[in-house]
Amino acid sequence: MNLVNPSAEELLGLKGDDLIGTQLADAVPEFGPQLKRARKPARRPGTDQITLRRRGSERNFAVRVTSEGDGQGYVVTFDDITELVIAQRSTAWADVARRIAHEIKNPLTPIQLSAERIRRKYGKVITEDREIFEQCTDTIVRQVSDIGRMVDEFSAFARMPKPVMELHDVREIVREAVFLFQVSRPDIDFTLDLPDKPVKTMSDQRLLTQAVTNLVKNASEGIDTAIENDPDRAGTGEITAKVAAKGDRVHITIIDNGCGLPKEDRDRLIEPYMTTRVKGTGLGLAIVQRITEQHGGKLRLPMLRSAAAKWRGHRC
Ligand SMILES: Nc1ncnc2c1ncn2[C@@H]1O[C@H](COP(=O)(O)OP(=O)(O)OP(=O)(O)O)[C@@H](O)[C@H]1O
Ligand SMILES: [Mg+2]
Repeated sequence: MNLVNPSAEELLGLKGDDLIGTQLADAVPEFGPQLKRARKPARRPGTDQITLRRRGSERNFAVRVTSEGDGQGYVVTFDDITELVIAQRSTAWADVARRIAHEIKNPLTPIQLSAERIRRKYGKVITEDREIFEQCTDTIVRQVSDIGRMVDEFSAFARMPKPVMELHDVREIVREAVFLFQVSRPDIDFTLDLPDKPVKTMSDQRLLTQAVTNLVKNASEGIDTAIENDPDRAGTGEITAKVAAKGDRVHITIIDNGCGLPKEDRDRLIEPYMTTRVKGTGLGLAIVQRITEQHGGKLRLPMLRSAAAKWRGHRC
């Protein structure tokens, strides 16, 4: 390589000085197949989509390789299309969710009513193995109601309302979302780190509260997992909710000292239905992502611990 512009350095997470004089296919092996194809004579340049993984983070690039003419030099241009890919996946998932919700919801009510009817009608009559009979009908009713709840969440995700923007103090929104958890989780130490002055911004209060709530919920569940793995940590859970106004941007940061985000496929956690929890729908972060996007913002998950060593906790 003999020329790397600053945007390329930033996008690749590599230093230009380290790249000059190296082979591009060595420095960024993911570009290898594109370069190989560009070498073929009479090949018209096309755009490919590739995925780069660096420090636990996954980014999507649209890459185009053009030959300088003599077949010796190449110009590689690439755009970071990660946000676009996430938005496309999210829309596709919303469509799937809508269909699933529609197809599954319809038979659920008759199943539940039938099971309840069987229990009522035959519960008294059955004398043999009555316990098993009750266990089975209870299981059907309970599981069907669990599926119903999940389906409701799917359809709520598919029909996410359009935001109604009004001027709100973000501090109040964060304070309120945290307050609800403070009441129900006295075992966790909550800290609010808010500016002294109001942070007024155009936002949809209900949606923003939902986004912060989802993050704090994840934080508290991360703490629960840490305690499950190491019961000695009971009572040491800490969650900090921070608001900072920077120019015309507002940063809302939720930090916890729980189990930490999974190391692999960190960016995919934002995708709908990505969950590591038995009872999770995996919609929490997808909803946060959608809401931040609607507010012209971005959801950032923290980098791997080593890369963000100055943070003691985990930021979302
Ligand atoms: N603060 C956190 N600490 C540890 N892991 C987290 C945290 N936040 C998110 N995660 C990980 O990201 C995954 C996706 O989170 P998301 O909120 O989208 O879904 P979920 O929490 O699993 O389900 P739901 O939000 O429906 O309860 C979680 O399953 C968990 O593995
Ligand atoms: Mg969640």
